[in-house]
Amino acid sequence: MTSKAIYVQAGGGYDKVQVGTCEAPAPRAGEITVRLHANSLNYHDFAVVSGMWGPSEARIPMADGAGVVTAVGEGVSEFAVGDAVVSTFFPDWIDGQPLVEGFASVPGDGIDGYAREQVTARATSFTLAPKGFSHAEAATLTTAGLTAWRALMADDSLKPGDTVLVQGTGGVSIFALQFAKLAGATVIATSSSDEKLERLKAMGADHLINYRKTPAWGETVRQLTDNRGVDHVIEVGGPATLEQSMIAARIGGHISLIGILTGVAGQLPLVQALVRQIRLQGVLVGSRAQQQAMVRAIDANGLRPVIDKTFALEQIVDAFRHQESNQHFGKICLEF
Ligand SMILES: NC(=O)c1ccc[n+]([C@@H]2O[C@H](COP(=O)([O-])OP(=O)(O)OC[C@H]3O[C@@H](n4cnc5c(N)ncnc54)[C@H](OP(=O)(O)O)[C@@H]3O)[C@@H](O)[C@H]2O)c1
Repeated sequence: MTSKAIYVQAGGGYDKVQVGTCEAPAPRAGEITVRLHANSLNYHDFAVVSGMWGPSEARIPMADGAGVVTAVGEGVSEFAVGDAVVSTFFPDWIDGQPLVEGFASVPGDGIDGYAREQVTARATSFTLAPKGFSHAEAATLTTAGLTAWRALMADDSLKPGDTVLVQGTGGVSIFALQFAKLAGATVIATSSSDEKLERLKAMGADHLINYRKTPAWGETVRQLTDNRGVDHVIEVGGPATLEQSMIAARIGGHISLIGILTGVAGQLPLVQALVRQIRLQGVLVGSRAQQQAMVRAIDANGLRPVIDKTFALEQIVDAFRHQESNQHFGKICLEF
C-alpha cells in the first residue's frame, strides 16, 4: 500500500526535507503492518533532520512511532489487528545486556524511521502501547521514556527514599521525575526558568534549583541532602554539567551519562570521580524487554507523559524549530 512519508535527503538540513510516498507491503512471516499516527521528537532526530548528523542517503526520519496494527504476518502471536503499538529504538536488542553500539540499526538514522503513515516491519520493532494512551502519548516512550526508565530502574535499582537529580525540563528529565516519584524517591530538579521550575514543583519535584542563577548547583544539592549527595543523577547536559553532577552525587553515587546538550567534549574532573567512587554509566536508550517493563509500570500506575505541543506531519521542520527554541516543557509530537 502506498502512503505519505517524510524524507530527508542525504546530508540532512531543513531545506532537504520533502514530503513523498512509501510502500508498506503485506506482512511476511514475523512481520506486522502498522498505520502510524504519531511521532515524538528527540535531540537525536533533530541531529539527523537538521544535518548535524545527516544521513548518508535519503532517509525517512523519526525513531519514535505509534499507531495501530492493521495486518499480522504468519507466526506473529504477540499482536492482533487493532492493537495500539509503539516502536522500539533498537529492534535487534530484545533483552539482557546492551548488544548495540551506535545508530546503524536505529529507525530514523541507520534505517528508515516512522515519519510516515504506514510501515511493515518485524514484530520486534514494536511493543504494545500503554492502555488508554493517545498515539502521541505512546510515541513519547520509545526514546525519552525508555532512556529515563532504564537509567533509574534497570542500570541502578531505584528504591523508595533514594534521591534523584534531574536536569532541565526536556523529555528525558521529565520522565525521570515522573518515574522517580512513582518509586517513592525524592527529586531535586534544575531548570534555567523559574516558571518551568514551578511546573516541576506541581509535578512533585521536592527541591528546585535555577541552574542559571546558581551555576555552582552541585554544592546546593549537597546542602539540600545534608551533605550526603544524591543517589542518582540524570545527566543530560554533558561537558558543562558533568563536574557539578559529580559534586552533587553521593559517594558511590550513580550518574547516567545520557545527554550532550552542551557539547560532545570537555575536561573530566577525574579526581572528583575517583575519590567519590562515582559510578558513571553511559546510556543508549534500552532494550525491548525494558520497554515492555516500562509499559507495565505505566499501565499499573496511570502515569501520563507531558506533551508540550503537537504539529502535523508536514510541519516537521516547524516542530524542530520549536524544539531548538528551548521554550518547550516535556515532549513535542507530530500527529497524523
Ligand atoms: N543516551 C540516550 O539514550 C539519550 C536518549 C534521549 C535523549 N538523549 C540526550 O539527552 C539530552 C536531552 O534530551 P531530551 O530529549 O530530554 O531534550 P529536550 O527535550 O530537547 O530538552 C532540552 C532541555 O534541556 C535543558 N537543558 C539545556 N541545557 C541545559 C544545561 N546546561 N543544564 C541543564 N539542563 C539543560 C533545558 O531545560 P530548561 O529549559 O528547563 O533549562 C532544555 O529545555 C540530549 O542531549 C539528547 O541527545 C540521550
